[in-house]
Amino acid sequence: MTGTPAHPERTPVPERFDRIDLAALPDDFLWGTATSAYQIEGAVAEDGRSPSIWDTFSHTPGNIDNDDHGDIACDHYHRTAEDIALMRRLGTDAYRLSIAWPRVLPGGDGPVNARGLDFYDRLIDALLAAGITPSVTLYHWDLPQVLQDRGGWPERATAEHFAAYAAVVAERLGDRVTHWTTLNEPLCSAWIGHLEGTMAPGWRDLTAAVRASFHLLLGHGLAAQAIRAAVPGAQVGIVNNLSTVRPASDRPEDLAAAHRMDGHTNRWWLDPVFGRGFPADMRSLYGVDLPERPGDLTTIAQPLDWLGLNYYFPATVADASDAPVPYVHSVRRGGVPRTGMDWEVDAGGIESLLLRLTEEYAPRKLYVTENGSSYPDVIRPDGTIDDPERQDYLVQHLAACASAARKGAPLAGYFAWSLLDNFEWAYGYDKRFGLVHVDYATQRRTIKGSGHRYADIIRRHRGRAAEAA
Ligand code: IFM
Repeated sequence: MTGTPAHPERTPVPERFDRIDLAALPDDFLWGTATSAYQIEGAVAEDGRSPSIWDTFSHTPGNIDNDDHGDIACDHYHRTAEDIALMRRLGTDAYRLSIAWPRVLPGGDGPVNARGLDFYDRLIDALLAAGITPSVTLYHWDLPQVLQDRGGWPERATAEHFAAYAAVVAERLGDRVTHWTTLNEPLCSAWIGHLEGTMAPGWRDLTAAVRASFHLLLGHGLAAQAIRAAVPGAQVGIVNNLSTVRPASDRPEDLAAAHRMDGHTNRWWLDPVFGRGFPADMRSLYGVDLPERPGDLTTIAQPLDWLGLNYYFPATVADASDAPVPYVHSVRRGGVPRTGMDWEVDAGGIESLLLRLTEEYAPRKLYVTENGSSYPDVIRPDGTIDDPERQDYLVQHLAACASAARKGAPLAGYFAWSLLDNFEWAYGYDKRFGLVHVDYATQRRTIKGSGHRYADIIRRHRGRAAEAA
């Protein structure tokens, strides 16, 4: 989109979050950006990569807006040097990337594809040479299609294959990579991919979804063990997309609905990982037998070095007995600002989640592993991109993070989603989350106002840390 900047929706930043208390963040706070393989790499048929479930899903007509797909995406596979140079211009310390399983093990299990692994090897070297710490995610939703054909996450074997794949990657990169994430947002893989059907593999089957959720978490535990076996001193974590959940009213039915939604979105993904097992209320609500074997719960509850929070928006729900599990419907609150995804802007949500995680689960460390916003960016005639709403979102959420840190959350870093505009899954390329704009016709990258703003925040934090030292 080009033209005159117009920001009719800009709403004043709430006073509570209009200033970032940089002094509340530790001096060694990690400032990063995040992406994922399928969303940016392209080169889907190069160097031995096999199709993933997202290739299949996105090439099925009607699944993705405009029938977009990730075949080329941001062409990052061929533009890593340019993209790392952008990270340097932003002044970030860290970069959260994901590895495409089908590049490394095109058969899902079995022989390693050297060319696929070499790509990541070079990427890690280039990041380190640029002074940027890599934070590696092993699974950001791109299951090899061959494993889907054998049943996918509802099958236990997929968790075992995942651990074998984790071992291959950790053995190769572990001499240079310390920060490891097993899974990104398993909720999306299980609930959206297998229950709601709007993400790959596109199923609508509660039993499959519950089984997938179990095997994803089992895969997490097994992979954490595999990483630790290969990489002494590895810092291993899992990344969840969590949400604050409010009842639409104080009617007992809505309070109960909010509790169910909290179980579905938050507790199901946290309790087992922190050794509490799967929440009993949700087990009985789903009514599906877990495919659990002796020892599985202990495997799932591997000690974590850190916990990652991806936060975007809060949920407000009302009871809806005719809706699918968890029998709620979302209530749209009036008079609140929304992003281009129509997601409510509520920075208080990230603060309360960070504090809740601290109090209820006591993680050793917390990272905000994703946070960001999509807006329809406007390119000015001079080629610059001003994105005041995204800047406001960034500042508010960082202010809320700093406030949580001030109140005791062990927050060690923040990764902005995203470095680049990219393939936003079912929404295709129309939704832009980048601090850097991508012109998909030319692959030209332009740092947006929000990118410059982020760079400035990082500089100021470093400046104060240096002064303090
Ligand atoms: O783009 C996604 C990302 O892949 C996972 N977390 C949420 C982002 C925005 O929807």
